Amino acid sequence: MLNQDVGRGRGVYISTYGCQMNTNDTERMLTLLEMVNFVPVQTPEQASLIIINSCSVREKPVHKVRSEVGLYKEWKLKNPDLRIGVGGCVAQQEKAKLLKDIPVLDFAFGTDAIDQLPSIVAKTYESKEKQVSAKFEHDKPYTVETLLRNPGVAAFVNITKGCDNFCTFCVVPFTRGRERSRSLKELVADIRSLVARGVREVTLIGQNVNSYKSDCGADFGHLLRTLSEDTDIQRIRYTTSHPKDFNQELVDISAKYRSKICDYIHLPAQSGNSEVLKRMNRGYSREEYLDKVAMIRQGIPGVVLSTDIIVGFPGETEAQYDETRSLIETVRYENIYAFKYSPRPFTKAARYTDQVSESDSKRRLQILLDRQREIAFELGQPYNNKTYDVLFEVKAEIPGHIQGRTTHNKLVYSPGDESMIGKTARVHVTKAYPNVLHGEILPGFDA
Ligand code: SAH
Ligand code: SF4
Ligand code: F3S
Repeated sequence: MLNQDVGRGRGVYISTYGCQMNTNDTERMLTLLEMVNFVPVQTPEQASLIIINSCSVREKPVHKVRSEVGLYKEWKLKNPDLRIGVGGCVAQQEKAKLLKDIPVLDFAFGTDAIDQLPSIVAKTYESKEKQVSAKFEHDKPYTVETLLRNPGVAAFVNITKGCDNFCTFCVVPFTRGRERSRSLKELVADIRSLVARGVREVTLIGQNVNSYKSDCGADFGHLLRTLSEDTDIQRIRYTTSHPKDFNQELVDISAKYRSKICDYIHLPAQSGNSEVLKRMNRGYSREEYLDKVAMIRQGIPGVVLSTDIIVGFPGETEAQYDETRSLIETVRYENIYAFKYSPRPFTKAARYTDQVSESDSKRRLQILLDRQREIAFELGQPYNNKTYDVLFEVKAEIPGHIQGRTTHNKLVYSPGDESMIGKTARVHVTKAYPNVLHGEILPGFDA
């Protein structure tokens, strides 16, 4: 039996890298640690337990772990009670090796070991022995209640974990394991309970939400329909959609339940060239991707699209890269998340011999980002002087302002007070910037 007083009022600080999975995992870790009397603190200086929830999707985040741990190293000399651990995808990937490489660490735990965290931490306080827990639980069903300490207006809800796609550049199938889905029944109950706690908007998260499959046979479309009909959630978003699995049925469901399902789809293309896409093992060609975009835009007019792009994938020629440039001209995304290719351990592309030079990748990235900035500016202009429904989420950093989002996921700042948080209001846009709208709340909002 775990001693319920492992924490004894000690402070815990977690720094989080990576995607929303990690953000949700951090909340889960803090909830579990609070149950055994740790107290979350705002800065690492106040903590006796420091955890780095790491990401390894690109090279840089791994470096960040190493440099962050470096900062805390000396604190251990002054505070013998201090324990430092690493969780998340780097821990999953490196396992015991991480503890060997960074001797100051006390423990490492993988992405399937979060629920063991209180007992792992207890052991590090009981003995000097380093703890490693990084086994995948492939054979267990994926059942997990969303643990949020103080849910806000918008919450992320995991619907799947892991990924079976094995895109040749991507480490995620190795750090998150095989894909598994939560049951439809569990998700409905989870979201109803979040609604009862004041949540108005959920973002359903998974590496490839379109391949969701409940044990009862329900697919992603079925899940969206059920959540729209059988819960009182006001808005539903989801990420990430895989273009190969995005189908007409999903477009039809999004159109039918448009009052709840938001007009924003993140549809990672990765490249605009079919040969590169093939070597990436993405499962679609440029033409097929563009067909999906056309299908989505026809079924959901006005929907906003964003994407992820990798430049400098091994073997990418200038001509192939030009096709990525032309893809962003053709689709005109409101937002792109573009990255230089970074070779990852275990992945197939890391063994490709025709790696692109750093200077070429850097230049390709810069050109793409510069052009996208112009496109985003142009696409932002029509928002001026229009009105939109905005669900307000939190106080904004600008004094006297609150912030929320439109169904298109556009961030909006408006003068207003906290009484508006959690409410939807009609906002008249007075100034549209590429990534944010400023506007005034119109009278007669829907409380
Ligand atoms: N499941 C999502 C992506 C998760 S990773 C999907 O399939 O779209 C988030 C993004 O990181 C990817 O879309 C990709 O653009 C980028 N990424 C992943 N591995 C990368 C690598 N090795 N180098 C550079 N960018 C990478
Ligand atoms: Fe990685 Fe591809 Fe899976 Fe996305 S779909 S997580 S890019 S392997
Ligand atoms: Fe990073 Fe792991 Fe997410 S590698 S992007 S934290 S799944």
